[in-house]
Amino acid sequence: MRIDIVTLFPEMCEYVLGESIIGRARDSGIAELYCHNIRDYTADKHRRVDDYPYGGGLGMLIKAEPIANCFEAIIRQQGKRPHFIYMSPQGRVLSQQIAVNYAQRESITILCGHYEGVDERLLDAYIDDEVSIGDYVLTGGELPALVLVDAVMRMIPGVLAENTSFEEESIFNGLLEYPQYTRPEEWQGRKVPSVLLSGNHAQIQKWCREQSLIRTEEKRPDLYAYYAKEVK
Ligand code: ADE
Repeated sequence: MRIDIVTLFPEMCEYVLGESIIGRARDSGIAELYCHNIRDYTADKHRRVDDYPYGGGLGMLIKAEPIANCFEAIIRQQGKRPHFIYMSPQGRVLSQQIAVNYAQRESITILCGHYEGVDERLLDAYIDDEVSIGDYVLTGGELPALVLVDAVMRMIPGVLAENTSFEEESIFNGLLEYPQYTRPEEWQGRKVPSVLLSGNHAQIQKWCREQSLIRTEEKRPDLYAYYAKEVK
């Protein structure tokens, strides 16, 4: 899979994408990740990327032309059009299903907004999906883009360790994960539930399943109601 991020702050993205699991997946060639600086695609000598909004209003907008030039360069590099995503608080709220869907695509390009946003004509001309990471407003689209890349990348086969099964984890199957413990058996007077030390795998599985249900009902009644209605 190929992921391109189009941003005014490529160093910020490069840094995060070079670390940990995503960094290793990138180094091993499982996925190609590129960060493009919108400023490199300006035609004027001052490399200006923003301007005042017509009709007045606070703040500046990113101009359409440099973003379009960058998008066209990405299309030329690949010989085909990627799926264009714009990170924006006005978009569909990111979910596990959305991440799974993007992970199945050959190529996505993510545009990060800044200032007061982007000239609407650029969005009309190119953007396939607008995605939000939640109902709050951030100063730019870089952190949301990195959240999206992380959620997508870990769904690509080979990115997570072989024995990691994301089908079993929180949210993926519609339930939250059961509580987990590691050594020591007792810490500050708190004991590991005895069933987990029993060696009885059927009992352990039953306990994990029950705990998942109890937790989901307690912490995320919205997920539990959906699960009880649609899945159970
Ligand atoms: N840009 C600013 N706020 C955002 C949000 N909540 N989600 C996605 N992009 C954003």
